[in-house]
Amino acid sequence: MPKKAYISAVSHYVPEKVLTNFDLEKMVDTSDEWIRTRTGIRERHILEPGKATSDMGAEAVKKLCQNRGIDPMEIDGIIVATVTPDMFFPSTGNLVQEKSGAKNAWSFDIAAACSGFIYSLSVAAQFIVAGTAKKIVVVGADKMSAITNYRDRNTCVLFGDAAGAVLLEPTEDENVGIMDFLLYSDGSGADFLKMKAGGSLYPASLETVANDWHFIYQDGKSVFKFAVTKMAEVSVDILEKNGLQGNDLTLFVPHQANLRIIDAAVKRLGIDYDRVMINIDRYGNTTAATIPLALSEAYLEGRLDIGDLVLFATFGGGFTWASSLLRWGIPKPDGK
Ligand code: COA
Repeated sequence: MPKKAYISAVSHYVPEKVLTNFDLEKMVDTSDEWIRTRTGIRERHILEPGKATSDMGAEAVKKLCQNRGIDPMEIDGIIVATVTPDMFFPSTGNLVQEKSGAKNAWSFDIAAACSGFIYSLSVAAQFIVAGTAKKIVVVGADKMSAITNYRDRNTCVLFGDAAGAVLLEPTEDENVGIMDFLLYSDGSGADFLKMKAGGSLYPASLETVANDWHFIYQDGKSVFKFAVTKMAEVSVDILEKNGLQGNDLTLFVPHQANLRIIDAAVKRLGIDYDRVMINIDRYGNTTAATIPLALSEAYLEGRLDIGDLVLFATFGGGFTWASSLLRWGIPKPDGK
């Protein structure tokens, strides 16, 4: 039996401060009712000033090691998915490595917007299957509040800050482990969702700051149209490719960007809502963190047991979209 990678631990970190829809009503021309009915979001968490993506990532990695009962020194590699690195370089992976005490780990970042976690998981899994690493941490972390314009009602209601992490290890147990990935990108979508300045095309200048080019820009309608189609498609395709159907799933863990986009995928899969993990109401869109955060909460709620079939699916800036299918490999938490 060839080696597979399996998720041997999961964790998350969310900052304490909560920004509710009612708080946003005082900042821009919006309403709790509009935000809830259009997006499904009630509140999101915001990281305190002076802290960055790596601080949330490091907290998630420390908890991950506690959950697995290992020393951070045992980690071989750390991959951080993020679009809000602490700085251009060094990578946020390097900073997480230092702050979590994972001194023996190599580390790097992957930028694939809201698809970053699944993309990173696919990279980490190849190392495990190839036998070149035994313990790889995949972190999805974003401090979206750092690039959100709280004067723009079109975007500021959507995003929040968080980190989630999983540990990947090898297994020869055929009943558990990561079974498959589908990854896609389409660069013709680049202009619909982006942060225009701060890179090599438009380095920071008085003009870029005056034009708000260091904030998220989104053409919401175009992204919505793309997302509704692609997240449903990539979910159904990976099941069909593996000779499975929606009802074989124990849990569907979709990217949490908009409840209406999740609804469309759930309808296409033909599954009941009790098989879908949803926490967008409490966190908003935390970009690379949504899937590991939702997975971690689902696990803690006792919704997953050994051998259960789990589907991840996502879409995001780029455009990018992706899915992954796996069988769960961690026993339920005590008392669940
Ligand atoms: N409060 C009140 N009104 C708002 C608002 C807010 N926070 N944000 C936008 N509006 C207004 C718009 O200005 C527009 O007004 P207009 O018709 O006078 O121009 C009106 O609401 C309708 O906007 P529309 O874009 O049709 O709303 P929508 O139903 O498409 O919802 C999004 C907007 C952003 C929620 C939706 O397009 C979306 O979810 N897009 C995808 C976002 C996403 O998933 N991004 C992340 C990708 S990983």
